[in-house]
Amino acid sequence: MKILANDGISQSGIDALEAAGFEVNTTTVAQEQLINYINDKAISVLLVRSATTARKDLIDACPNLKIIGRGGVGMDNIDVDYAKQKGLHVINTPAASSQSVAELVFAHLYGGVRFLHDANRNMPLDGDTQFKKLKKNYAKGVELRGKTLGVIGFGRIGQEVAKIGLGVGMKVIAADKFIEAAYVSVDFFDGQSVTFNIKTETMEDVLKQSDFVTLHVPAQKDYVIAKPEFDVMKDGSAIINAARGGVVNEVDLVSALESGKLAFAGLDTFQNEPTPAVQLLMNGRISLTPHIGAATNEAQDRIGIELATQIKNILLNG
Ligand SMILES: NC(=O)c1ccc[n+]([C@@H]2O[C@H](COP(=O)([O-])OP(=O)(O)OC[C@H]3O[C@@H](n4cnc5c(N)ncnc54)[C@H](O)[C@@H]3O)[C@@H](O)[C@H]2O)c1
Repeated sequence: MKILANDGISQSGIDALEAAGFEVNTTTVAQEQLINYINDKAISVLLVRSATTARKDLIDACPNLKIIGRGGVGMDNIDVDYAKQKGLHVINTPAASSQSVAELVFAHLYGGVRFLHDANRNMPLDGDTQFKKLKKNYAKGVELRGKTLGVIGFGRIGQEVAKIGLGVGMKVIAADKFIEAAYVSVDFFDGQSVTFNIKTETMEDVLKQSDFVTLHVPAQKDYVIAKPEFDVMKDGSAIINAARGGVVNEVDLVSALESGKLAFAGLDTFQNEPTPAVQLLMNGRISLTPHIGAATNEAQDRIGIELATQIKNILLNG
């Protein structure tokens, strides 16, 4: 049976699938040619990340497709309910990337509090002629230890973020639409472990108290954070969005940064991917990454192996 991994798959995933007798094709087929390609090559499994979409038209036009798999969490690029109605299996890898996304949040946070995002822009330009001036510009850094981290969306990634925050000495508070409390265990290298019971609070309470806010909610119809929410945040606080573009109102975010309400923002996800608004890209107060939360070797290995296991279970053991 043939598998098309249109947005790529880790070597560990390819190895596991080939060992089970599958043929794995990692060609990237353009979206408009995908239906023909799947039918011509008799593809049974289409694997995607976030770039390729699998909508009704593709599902209708490819009757031999048995599985659509998403390497990652959010399935907004797949018509999941429709595919299931048509008898397809739709799979994803919800837990595989949580740790990597959580670490990227802290990369943005630690970078932000010491202005690394801006220093890295200006040192190549002026570092040899304006060293003292830049040193002064970036002199008022702050530490994360002792500060309050507000996690909005206390699911898998939110709880991984909480673990790191607790580990580096932050007070961690959280809000969630459905989760009332969660036991969060911080595990150390030598087997020691400390468990915290974190009870969620209202979003407003979390926004009011937090020095740093980080978002870990799924894509939804309305903004979760826009002007009214920025207004209740602490003056000089910061926000990280490594969840989904569209969760934060980006126009209101730029206003909050320009008015000084927010000290900085870290964005891994954007409303207009893959062409984010230039007002975001050019803003010296925003630490930017191009949706790389899950893009670590470890997460991609786990994703590949998890997909391979599920495909084998469905097609060979099911
Ligand atoms: N940056 C990246 O590369 C990357 C990688 C993986 C996942 N993600 C994104 O991270 C987000 C979280 O993933 P997860 O695995 O933790 O999901 P999850 O389902 O485990 O957790 C999401 C939580 O958000 C809560 N929630 C939903 N709407 C809310 C709202 N309006 N206010 C408060 N809480 C709300 C839910 O109750 C749930 O507990 C998703 O949007 C996912 O797409 C990004």
